[in-house]
Amino acid sequence: MADVPRIAVLTSGGDSPGMNAAIRAVARQAIAGEAEVLGIERGFEGLLEDAVRPLRIGDVGGILDRGGTFLGTARSERMFTEEGLETAVGVLRARGVTGLVVIGGNGSFRAADELHARGVKVCGVPATIDNDVGGTDTCVGFDTALNTIAEAAGKVRDTASSHARTFVIEVMGRRSGMLALYSGLACGADRILVPEVPFDIRDVCRTIVAGVERGKRHSLVVVAEGAAHAMHLAAELSPLCGHQVRAVVLGHVQRGGSPSAFDRILASRMSALAVRALLEGQSGVMAALRYTSVRTIRLSEGYTAERALPQELYDLAGVLAR
Ligand code: F6P
Repeated sequence: MADVPRIAVLTSGGDSPGMNAAIRAVARQAIAGEAEVLGIERGFEGLLEDAVRPLRIGDVGGILDRGGTFLGTARSERMFTEEGLETAVGVLRARGVTGLVVIGGNGSFRAADELHARGVKVCGVPATIDNDVGGTDTCVGFDTALNTIAEAAGKVRDTASSHARTFVIEVMGRRSGMLALYSGLACGADRILVPEVPFDIRDVCRTIVAGVERGKRHSLVVVAEGAAHAMHLAAELSPLCGHQVRAVVLGHVQRGGSPSAFDRILASRMSALAVRALLEGQSGVMAALRYTSVRTIRLSEGYTAERALPQELYDLAGVLAR
């Protein structure tokens, strides 16, 4: 009798809504392909400690619509050391793993590619609210985070209008302005500040004051955490603009919550594809959304290609913010 394939799955890095849907699809697609499934707890950290348990169909029931990741996640510095990588390979071999699905962002994919280089069969599923993984149109969790921000910004706008104030809303994104750009467009922000584009605070103030002079009762500035801190910005803008400027830091609220239908479906499609790719013998690849189809591309595309901000959207935001 041929050996039964054994697929292991882990979630790594910052959690994102839809990770549970992804784990569920990995397990169920693998079982449909007559493979055994192992769940690894706390990402690569759990792998290094051999925190591994079998996953059966029922173990992934009732989680499709739940935020976070029931396997847990972590950021693992140890996976960037030779010793850590060797330990990880040893655990996977001892557990008889024939394919590993890594659900996470570009740092996790870098580590996954190192495992691939050491003979482990791996496939990535891009899941990060930052949406900064290269080669894919979008990542699992981005859509949900965007909707969370848009809803929060709408509430902020109500109180801003009531008091004729400006609000600076800080969203996540240390190196990437994707969340800021998309959420700024979705909530009609007057200015969107991203790490990729330098800004002049006097210019931001001019935009706000021009709006006030046209009779606007609220102004919203959406800033990515990597561009500036909302509190500092508000403190600087207030005297410059001559009216009250308040700050809201949305923080980790953006990462939680039930995944949108879009993210549930994307997670399911990408993860099922990842398992099928591994069962076919592919490795060193990641699932990617291109237009409306999912396909596999080289894992390295996910972490080497600089994910440029879509200029067209940035320009559009400038035109529409009047
Ligand atoms: O997952 C990426 C990210 O959401 C970044 O945008 C943010 O800077 C970071 O996570 C925050 O991570 P932590 O949970 O470690 O504070």
